[in-house]
Amino acid sequence: MGLTRRLIAAALALGLGGATAPAGGASAPPMIRPLAGVRTWVVYYGAEASAGPDLARFDVVVLDPHGHPPLPVIKRHGAVVLTYVSLGEVNTSHPEYAAIKDEPWVLAPNPSWPDARRLDVRAEAYRRWLLDRVVPAALAGPVNGLFLDTADIEEIRTVARWGVLDGVTTNPTLFGKTKGMTYDEVLKVICGITSGPVSAEVVADDVEGMLREGRHFAKLADNIYVKVPMSENGLEAMARFRAEGIRTNCTLIFSANQGLLAAKAGASLLSPFVGRLDDINEEGMTVIRELAEIVAIHELETEVLTASVRHPRHVTDAALAGSHIATVPFKVFQQMVRHPLTDKGIVQFRSDWDKARKALAANEGKAPEDVKPTEARV
Ligand code: G3P
Repeated sequence: MGLTRRLIAAALALGLGGATAPAGGASAPPMIRPLAGVRTWVVYYGAEASAGPDLARFDVVVLDPHGHPPLPVIKRHGAVVLTYVSLGEVNTSHPEYAAIKDEPWVLAPNPSWPDARRLDVRAEAYRRWLLDRVVPAALAGPVNGLFLDTADIEEIRTVARWGVLDGVTTNPTLFGKTKGMTYDEVLKVICGITSGPVSAEVVADDVEGMLREGRHFAKLADNIYVKVPMSENGLEAMARFRAEGIRTNCTLIFSANQGLLAAKAGASLLSPFVGRLDDINEEGMTVIRELAEIVAIHELETEVLTASVRHPRHVTDAALAGSHIATVPFKVFQQMVRHPLTDKGIVQFRSDWDKARKALAANEGKAPEDVKPTEARV
């Protein structure tokens, strides 16, 4: 009987009882609701995509932050997704294991869980690792959303105020457009404005040069992702950054295969340039669609970040193609906010409001500006 079935059986065995009426339309499988108002939850340690639909039937789903079925499938009926942090133990598949495996506080294997190592919880260094590395990564969870593609501090502050900023991508061209600050200074300010990933790009093309620049950027702030262009040296550098626990964003990707290679080398973010592909009569969104599908099918520990976005339609198409993130220039963010009918509607509501106030004022023999429509009756 499949793992998820065993899980469901366990959940039901835990007295959560049978399913109630289907939720969210005839096609949705019945939510597991034994008693009216009783919420159901499940802990799932695996990453099998096939478990998604069953897990979606629970109200609360607890997942491994470093390997889990695709979230959109689990969330489709509104399940609340939580994550957990193991205390005093680490799985050898944990992304940070390579960087800590020789530490004195990493102890013997756990006899009942062979691919897990016990950790000395009394060690100060263990507590630092847990609080500085493990908990933030688990809370961060997968990165979804909208990034700003700029090094301009004012643009970043503006979009951050809108409450829609999930991260920032910079590159040498965007930095070149700023004035009066070093790249480090710009990056530090940006990392202070958003807690989301901030990409800083290396310019060296040899492995040791990339590692030197990347290690330097990674020390500037916890949310720095080192941006590495796709190349053979780039792949080697990304693999070594992963071994050191430094997160990378592979840039200048123009094919699904380049993305697949970067994911295998350990890149946390994959940046295909849709605008530049469109520029040469190729359909950039094809690469996004193919890469998002490959990442979902093979449960790769990475996310697709649509880059070189030129217009609002790129953002819609990227979201529909399954891209986890889009990095968007400020001008395109502004265009996304606007719609002529919204502008027309705001003007119409305003004039109807003013008309109502005039009518109220006339009723009460007052000047329109003295009438507060919230207090007066039409
Ligand atoms: O994120 C990459 C982006 O900055 C490149 O955009 O418009 O120069 O292709 P573009």
